[in-house]
Amino acid sequence: MEAAALLQLWALAALALGGTQTVLGGSQPTLPDHRVSLETGAIFVHELEQELFQAAFSESEEEDGSSPITFHAHLRDHPDLPRWLRCAQRGPHSSAFLYGSPTAAEVGTHIIEVLASNRLTYETAAQRLIISITPSLEGDPPYQGEFLVGNRNVEELLPDAVQEQFVQAASAVWDHHDVHIINITSALDRGGRVPLPIEGRKEGVYVKVGSHAAFSPCLEAASSPQSRFLCHLGQQPLASCYDTFAPHFAILWCNLTLLQVLPTPTAPGPVWGPGVLEGSGDFQPPTTSPPQDLLPSFLLTLLVPLAVAALLCVVLGHLMCCRREGVAKRDLETSDIQLVHHTTIHGDTEELRSMAHSRDVPRPLSTLPMFNVRTGQRINPMVGPPDGARDPLIPQQR
Ligand SMILES: *[C@@H]1O[C@H](CO)[C@@H](O)[C@H](O)[C@H]1NC(C)=O
Ligand SMILES: *[C@@H]1O[C@H](CO)[C@@H](O)[C@H](O)[C@H]1NC(C)=O
Repeated sequence: MEAAALLQLWALAALALGGTQTVLGGSQPTLPDHRVSLETGAIFVHELEQELFQAAFSESEEEDGSSPITFHAHLRDHPDLPRWLRCAQRGPHSSAFLYGSPTAAEVGTHIIEVLASNRLTYETAAQRLIISITPSLEGDPPYQGEFLVGNRNVEELLPDAVQEQFVQAASAVWDHHDVHIINITSALDRGGRVPLPIEGRKEGVYVKVGSHAAFSPCLEAASSPQSRFLCHLGQQPLASCYDTFAPHFAILWCNLTLLQVLPTPTAPGPVWGPGVLEGSGDFQPPTTSPPQDLLPSFLLTLLVPLAVAALLCVVLGHLMCCRREGVAKRDLETSDIQLVHHTTIHGDTEELRSMAHSRDVPRPLSTLPMFNVRTGQRINPMVGPPDGARDPLIPQQR
């Protein structure tokens, strides 16, 4: 009876546990995975849109439909983001940006888990971001320049349209179209100070662009020693050309860095053989396999060895039973005299044996183990007193 009560209790507990688990599982909606492929040496920006996550939260929204949402992102099974990736969100009502520039050391697949929390209802929604990084085929651009934009916060430079605008301005200064953004970093991450909370003060953003074309004279002049000297005195550097960044971007020309990367003799990378996916495609493993007809291969694997074994059996049986060359052949190959000899010895032995069997005289006494000459009494010499060595071989007559 007690056992029955325990069982009932256990079942109840299991039910309760299962119930809470379903409740927990149901409270966190999960958005479908987002897959991205990118190459090293270029800026990657992913916007975590408020609306997308807003829709994932259940109906307990505000009337105006926008509850404050904060985002947290981390590498799966790790507490923080990988080194090359940063997450920026200005306030709970603005979108968050995941941005960064992967280097050759980060080639591979990174799974980022994003958790969005609704600040009003404490609901959460999760999404996985699967980032595959492949090595860039071109390598690092040999000419790189880093501009410091004074009038922007980092998340204001991340949207695609703003990046495009920046690239256009940089191309004009560079006198070349082949210019692209390599890296975007907040000045705060480079030792800058948090600006005072005054309207118009921004933290500043470093934008690194790269090109295969040489620096324009204008850029060279802006980073020449004379310009550096003027900067040191607190004056404007030599401006030999029109500042195409103005008025959108206020470039601090004193903080311009030009970098010429010598092409490093890279070790020959892996040679792509056949079977490597083209372009940016991710491999999607098939989830179901088409039904296959396995009967022919089964029969083949089973029947062919069986047939071979049977054939061998038949051949071996034929050789051993039907092709047997026995006594007749031996007799044929043995010389007659030898055969006669053999049969004679054989016959004589047989005859002697039969004669020995048929005689009924007692065995000669000398063939018996031990005997007394007079009495004919036999004793077994092996059985006797333990000290048999001193006994006379022939017992004395008493
Ligand atoms: C981008 O900038 C950050 C911060 O300065 C730096 O840590 C990172 O190495 C840079 N990435 C590339 C590819 O230059
Ligand atoms: C710009 O460069 C000057 C020196 O050239 C330096 O003192 C200043 O800190 C730099 N500004 C930032 C935001 O890094």
